[in-house]
Amino acid sequence: MVAPRERAAAALRLLDCEILVEPGLLGSVGAIAARAAPAHRYVIIADDTVAGHYGARVVDSFEDPSPLLLRVPPGEVHKTRATWASLTDEMLDAGCGRDTTVVALGGGVVGDLAGFVAATFMRGIPVVQVPTTLLAMIDASLGGKTGVDAPAGKNLVGAFHQPSAVIADPQALATLPLEQRRAGAAEAIKHGVITDTAYFDRVAAALPALLHEPAGDAMHELIIGSITIKAGVVLGDEREHGMRKILNFGHTLGHAIETASDYRLLHGEAIAIGMVLEAALAEMIGVATAGTAPRIRDAVARAGLPTAPPPALSPERLLALTRTDKKARGGAVEYALPLTIGTMAGAETQWGVRVRDDDVLAVLRAASH
Ligand SMILES: NC(=O)c1ccc[n+]([C@@H]2O[C@H](COP(=O)([O-])OP(=O)(O)OC[C@H]3O[C@@H](n4cnc5c(N)ncnc54)[C@H](O)[C@@H]3O)[C@@H](O)[C@H]2O)c1
Ligand SMILES: [Zn+2]
Repeated sequence: MVAPRERAAAALRLLDCEILVEPGLLGSVGAIAARAAPAHRYVIIADDTVAGHYGARVVDSFEDPSPLLLRVPPGEVHKTRATWASLTDEMLDAGCGRDTTVVALGGGVVGDLAGFVAATFMRGIPVVQVPTTLLAMIDASLGGKTGVDAPAGKNLVGAFHQPSAVIADPQALATLPLEQRRAGAAEAIKHGVITDTAYFDRVAAALPALLHEPAGDAMHELIIGSITIKAGVVLGDEREHGMRKILNFGHTLGHAIETASDYRLLHGEAIAIGMVLEAALAEMIGVATAGTAPRIRDAVARAGLPTAPPPALSPERLLALTRTDKKARGGAVEYALPLTIGTMAGAETQWGVRVRDDDVLAVLRAASH
């Protein structure tokens, strides 16, 4: 087996975007940005929490002139067109032009929002992603999807905009609350399910201990292993016409649960439940081999993540919400379902498996008992 670090280096070259993972990198953001996305001005966008922890350190890593640090309030509820409008107005007021690079410092909310600002400001300026949550390091910062939420649903207004560099400093995870680290681990479990059974087993075995040592070797391996998997999948399908859909495993029901909970559940918590349910669905309709679903449920439980939806969410409402998901095409909802751990179903149908409403309801009802 190739060592994880070498595999990551291969993914970096393939993606045409530098992806750096190293403890202490927050102190080098300025130098890396100057190399990967040289600009006259730099604008760092961060939420108040992350700006409080790391804003000064990242600002100080730039040479003169000092970058502009724009703050937004933390939380998904601020990933909106209103926040996008005030950020772009602030940049215009500050005289930023096309020769500006945006630095997205924070979790996936800031990454999506600042990425969308960069995608649209003056018809598109470079963005450097500096993810500070586990979820953003291994998932949200990679692949170029940016955007904001609308009242009708999550991520409904956005653009593809590849970052010039992704800079992940695992030391930033030391200040990240444990529940947020757990939520990120859900995506790592997903990466194993969709492509790599050995990786799945390694992650499952290292849980939950690795969550308590954010700067340890196991966490480092997880970050690099997951980045390698996500980068490999995105590379083959940048605009989500085919194989990239396998990344949606757990997300059809997961997004429905996340929305129905009014975002009280973290994204990763909702996706954890979504993976457990969709794996059960895959087994029930004969797509997945027997035993697949319990292994996924075990890994989710080992991470300390929930395995069933909160009782207040009715199966009928969750089913209805899957139809408003972007993954619904022509009225039918497509699922990304596993054949077994490490291999997804649907190679012959562009990785989408259409599932009957009755089967979805049966799984949701069984889970709510
Ligand atoms: N673009 C994509 O491909 C993609 C993929 C997955 C998820 N997403 C999006 O990502 C978002 C979720 O991202 P998230 O889970 O990172 O949430 P988040 O950005 O809201 O961050 C979670 C919380 O942790 C805080 N925080 C961040 N880093 C910290 C640190 N190092 N120390 C202490 N606190 C810290 C934040 O202030 C926030 O309160 C969702 O909006 C989702 O839609 C996008
Ligand atoms: Zn996700």
